Amino acid sequence: MRAMVKKAKGLSGRVKVPGDKSISHRALLLGAIAEGRTRIRNFLPAADCLATLVCVRALGIEVERLSETELIVQGQGLHGLMEPKHILDCTGSGTTMRLLAGILAGQPFYSVLTGNEQLRRRPMDRIVEPLRRMGATVLGRDDGRLPPLTILGGNLHGIEYRLPVASAQVKSAILLAGLYADGPTVIHEPGPARDHTERMLAVMAKGQILNFKLQTSNFRVQGSKLSSLDIVVPGDISSAAYFIAAACLVPGSEVVIEGVGVNPTRTGFLDALREMGADIVVENQQEVSGEPAAEVVVRARGGHGVPPLRGIEVSGDLVPRMIDEFPILAVVASQARGTTVVGDAAELRIKETDRIANTAAELRKLGACIEERPDGFVVEGPTRLVGTQVNSHGDHRLAMSLAIAGLVAEGETTIEGAECIADSFPGFEKILRVLSSK
Ligand code: S3P
Repeated sequence: MRAMVKKAKGLSGRVKVPGDKSISHRALLLGAIAEGRTRIRNFLPAADCLATLVCVRALGIEVERLSETELIVQGQGLHGLMEPKHILDCTGSGTTMRLLAGILAGQPFYSVLTGNEQLRRRPMDRIVEPLRRMGATVLGRDDGRLPPLTILGGNLHGIEYRLPVASAQVKSAILLAGLYADGPTVIHEPGPARDHTERMLAVMAKGQILNFKLQTSNFRVQGSKLSSLDIVVPGDISSAAYFIAAACLVPGSEVVIEGVGVNPTRTGFLDALREMGADIVVENQQEVSGEPAAEVVVRARGGHGVPPLRGIEVSGDLVPRMIDEFPILAVVASQARGTTVVGDAAELRIKETDRIANTAAELRKLGACIEERPDGFVVEGPTRLVGTQVNSHGDHRLAMSLAIAGLVAEGETTIEGAECIADSFPGFEKILRVLSSK
């Protein structure tokens, strides 16, 4: 599918973005192993989360869909899953495969996880190795490096594990397996990867999990019963990021995004934009189901021909806090004065696609000045972008970033392969139209 975007004159309005992808996955998975009925509101009905829904049902869990975004999961407790009759298809969702592998490592039955071509190229040794250490039998292609994965779980022991990379998917897989281990599991993380699993577990375990510390680099988990929960999923800040960037870039814009999750492990992009000089205010913060949510107000700074934003350096702990926002950061950087340097972000090469190579290649087609580095990229700005035909490479985050670039590019930008936007953000185009039409 092709999408066409024209240069915009100013975005304005109040909008909501769909539910958070990471939290929607976790609500389904933890709901399945909790005791009794978990109600999920504002669930994200995107392809990735629907893959988790299909897998959870294949494990014998009843999930009632009251509407597109409201579900009831009939949890069967930690030991209530059933051996699936068929392979579990995670489609393109790395979160589904890695988190589910953690739960399946604790099950005394046989299961096989696979996915589409894109997912079958992504590294799984990062979860296979610790899950094997805990006692699960996990096999995969290339000695467990690549999917499909075959898991025969059960009889796990707790481990103490130092994560080699700041990855929430790996951390969560080990935490979930840790619920089934006969002793405590301790995880040390090198940086602040998103902590949604820990937060949801803390609420569902009602204080039963001992020594469970949030916002530290040391987690401890020990098997305990999980209680069902009413979960209201906040809006996805990674989806909001595209409109926040657009409002910073298109002169005369003023956009309010309501009910967005502002968990500090996810707000790195807001910090980066503020450092670049953007006008962003977070208001009316509230706690919903253990997660902070708020209103994000963004105003374009008045121009007079001088670019209002300036280049910055992004590295270290800021990287995991905005790990999905680098393609859109590159777009913003192309309109900022000076140099933006991204380092410590080699992880971007093993996301849905190689996001360093593909972001650089596609933005260059529009006229941006961007160079790859092994662990990041360098952008010189500002550059005048000119609309042309670009390609998503099947990566939803690149497709949406290119659409925002199209709002500032002269003329018309055509994005080939825009259908992948549905992997994380159904309704993206509609919201963009609403904001552009005022
Ligand atoms: C996710 C964690 C991140 C992120 C992905 C979702 C999660 O991946 O890129 O989109 O829900 O845990 P890593 O944990 O591999 O960094």
